[in-house]
Amino acid sequence: MGRRRRAVLKAILGVLVVLIAAGGYYFYKARQSRPTEALRTGPLEKRVGGQEGIEELVHEFVGMLTKDERLRDRFTAIDRPGLEKRLSAFLCEQVGGGCKYEGKPMAEAHGELGITGEEFAAFMELFIVSMNNVELPQQEQNDLIDVMMALEGSVVKE
Ligand code: HEM
Repeated sequence: MGRRRRAVLKAILGVLVVLIAAGGYYFYKARQSRPTEALRTGPLEKRVGGQEGIEELVHEFVGMLTKDERLRDRFTAIDRPGLEKRLSAFLCEQVGGGCKYEGKPMAEAHGELGITGEEFAAFMELFIVSMNNVELPQQEQNDLIDVMMALEGSVVKE
């Protein structure tokens, strides 16, 4: 093989190596971004950070409920850690997590309280603020809002 030919082959080989390396890099990057896509479509429980993510959100939320002047009177006398535990288990079960909620059904837990539509709206407003505070992405926020809104009829008595 002539010198020239070898040089040309070497150059081609060099280009191939660079192309393969670049291709590998882009493939690697594409794979790296895949979990985010999977999170968009995977089970809601995973997308909200599992049981831990739900507990963090509920803690933030119940803290807000106890401070809000429209709602705090409802929550001053309650056992806060107990409510946080039950609300977390409830939401975790609702989003398909492996938790078991053992409290009362929603209509039974709230029926006697005479909760108004306005209170429910304030409750949802704080829920959204809490989701923002724990930096839950928009899609997951929407999905959790759907879960909560579906329960309005069981919670509100009007
Ligand atoms: C979709 C909306 C709601 C959900 C998913 C929810 C969930 C829960 C859960 C799981 C419990 C525990 C029940 C038990 O201990 O057996 C609870 C209790 C309670 N909820 Fe709600 N709730 C909602 C809306 C509201 C609203 C709008 C209010 C008032 C403004 C409210 C006030 C209370 C109170 C005062 C308790 C009793 C706490 C206690 O005595 O331990 N809830 N709720």
